[in-house]
Amino acid sequence: MSLFRTKNLDHMVAQSRAAGGLKKVLGPVDLVLMGIGAIVGTGIFVLTGTGALTAGPALTLSFVIAALACAFAALCYAEFASTVPVAGSIYTYTYATLGELAAWMIGWDLLLEYGLATSAVSVGWSGYFQSLIGGFGLRLPAELTAAPGAVPGVRTLLNLPALLIMLALTAMLSWGVRESARVNSVMVAIKIAVILLFIAVGARHVEPANWRPFMPFGMGGTMSAAALVFFAFIGFDAVTSAAEEVKRPERDLPIGIIGSLAVCAVLYVVVSAVMTGIVPFRRFAGVDHPVSLALQFAREDWVAGFVDLGAILGMTTVILVMTYGQTRVIFAMSRDGLLPARLSTLHPRLGTPFFATWVVGLVFGLIAALVPLDVLAELINIGTLAAFCLVSVAVLVLRKRRPDLPRAFRCPGVPAVPVLAILFCVALMTFLGRTTWIAFGVWLAIGLAVYFGYSRRNAVLRPDRPDRV
Ligand code: ALA
Repeated sequence: MSLFRTKNLDHMVAQSRAAGGLKKVLGPVDLVLMGIGAIVGTGIFVLTGTGALTAGPALTLSFVIAALACAFAALCYAEFASTVPVAGSIYTYTYATLGELAAWMIGWDLLLEYGLATSAVSVGWSGYFQSLIGGFGLRLPAELTAAPGAVPGVRTLLNLPALLIMLALTAMLSWGVRESARVNSVMVAIKIAVILLFIAVGARHVEPANWRPFMPFGMGGTMSAAALVFFAFIGFDAVTSAAEEVKRPERDLPIGIIGSLAVCAVLYVVVSAVMTGIVPFRRFAGVDHPVSLALQFAREDWVAGFVDLGAILGMTTVILVMTYGQTRVIFAMSRDGLLPARLSTLHPRLGTPFFATWVVGLVFGLIAALVPLDVLAELINIGTLAAFCLVSVAVLVLRKRRPDLPRAFRCPGVPAVPVLAILFCVALMTFLGRTTWIAFGVWLAIGLAVYFGYSRRNAVLRPDRPDRV
């Protein structure tokens, strides 16, 4: 039964509500901006090219489907975040409800999500960076531009810019970069301005004929693209990690989560409509900077330059926040004894999890340098979709087990909404490729082996540990 041992929920709730904790300073606008900051990145600036090739102009519908899956899951996240507003997000919620094994698996899954997301976004960053310096007539040797096998017919060895951006941000984080709401707001303003500029300029070049036929690959193509561009919405869970610093979590968290999702969904649908309206979708083959390509196609080169710059800045914050999130999950798991204690040690002078940060930066920087992006995105999506399913199950379990618990925000329409979240997420998962499923299965199998080989015996919750809570 020790597989199902749980952390003490009442203890955690009391701790999070006790005075003297983090300052409650964030309001709904901050949260919406934070969400957009973590969401808008590679998904819209890079993957829309592959998405358009898979769905045709129906890519707009793919974005709507992916947004719905996220919206149902987001309501479940909101209930947990406002009931147990503690660090560690879904890993911690699961430890308190479904038990240690499920928590370990979700934590292991989050390592995949956050870790590989940083790699994938670094690859996207690299594509835009190369396009930007290309505008100044600069060009890297072809061998250093992409992972081996990423560009058919070109001999590539390593994605050097992707590796370098990961290492640079790792260095910043390990020195103690603190993400302030203000800096985030500036970055978000730039991202949104660039997207609005794209829409305003691009709309003038739309040829409605490019939208016909709307669904050249049928519903199958549209769903496959939805399963891919789902990536563009990943990151709204970052809002839940701010739960302890929100003034009125019961009202503000749902606004932050749903608000940032809604804004991004609208922007994404419009951007994909404009893109596929300017460029016949087959032209996106092999392109890793489709948004600026659309403007180049329309001979708006100077605006394309702005898009490149905005995309680079936007992706930088996504990498930064995701790497940070990754180190926090590792930190929480290590503190609970499920990962080696060294990973939750703090640097004596800098006060940062220096060791864990560099492990993360090096491992995922090398993956960014050596693995093609499309493989990464699907793997991240399957991990995240699985996490969304588990959080929805956890809401149902907690409602049944602890109906007494004060819930600041209640997910509406239980059990329908969590069940819809599960159905949408499972449906999207079925449209991911076989290789992705196999890779995910291998990852989970390794996770189980680590759990039974190490984590279970070292968990803080094991009965003979004096410090268990
Ligand atoms: N949603 C984030 C992005 O698209 C991960 O970059």
